[in-house]
Amino acid sequence: MYFITSNEGKFREVERIAEMYGIQVKWMKMKYVEPQGNSLEEIAKLSARMLAEKIEGEFVIEDSGLFVEALKGFPGPYSSYVFKTIGNEGILKLMDGVKDRKAYFMAVVAYWDGEKAHVFTGKVDGEIADSARGTKGFGYDPIFLYGDKTFAEMETGEKNKVSHRRRAFEEFFKWLKEKS
Ligand code: IMP
Repeated sequence: MYFITSNEGKFREVERIAEMYGIQVKWMKMKYVEPQGNSLEEIAKLSARMLAEKIEGEFVIEDSGLFVEALKGFPGPYSSYVFKTIGNEGILKLMDGVKDRKAYFMAVVAYWDGEKAHVFTGKVDGEIADSARGTKGFGYDPIFLYGDKTFAEMETGEKNKVSHRRRAFEEFFKWLKEKS
């Protein structure tokens, strides 16, 4: 099964989750232009359809994002662009003095079976930290607090137990096992 992503951090996490289900995931390292959409689900489905025009057979992709409640779900589907532009420091600035720090990560997995897309979602609730902490992981991990640690302060295995990606891929792998 090919997992198409340009993000090595994502691939390493998924590779380990797949191992637990006895599934081998191969990395197709590829950057693709993400279609615009109002939800991760819409973007994931459109991306799968677009990639299916170039790639033969089955594959899986994942689209994820950070949703901050006090910012009405921002950056949400725009997480990638916002990370590249204002980054973690920018989010912390927007949250300066804000009491409600609730946030969640969401992941949408789209599996293309050769004919159509099947979608699976996962979510993890946490909070935006007061400052960036930790050096592990990637992206918004240093500012995402889960309990008393940020995701960037956790080992991959620890993050993988609770992450949005774990939950979405778990749904997918369970479905795949039941199907076969
Ligand atoms: P995309 O799914 O590749 O579009 O990524 C969306 C954005 O959210 C990127 O900037 C990622 O770095 C970020 N992101 C997605 N998942 C995670 C995560 O598990 N930890 C931290 N940042 C993440």
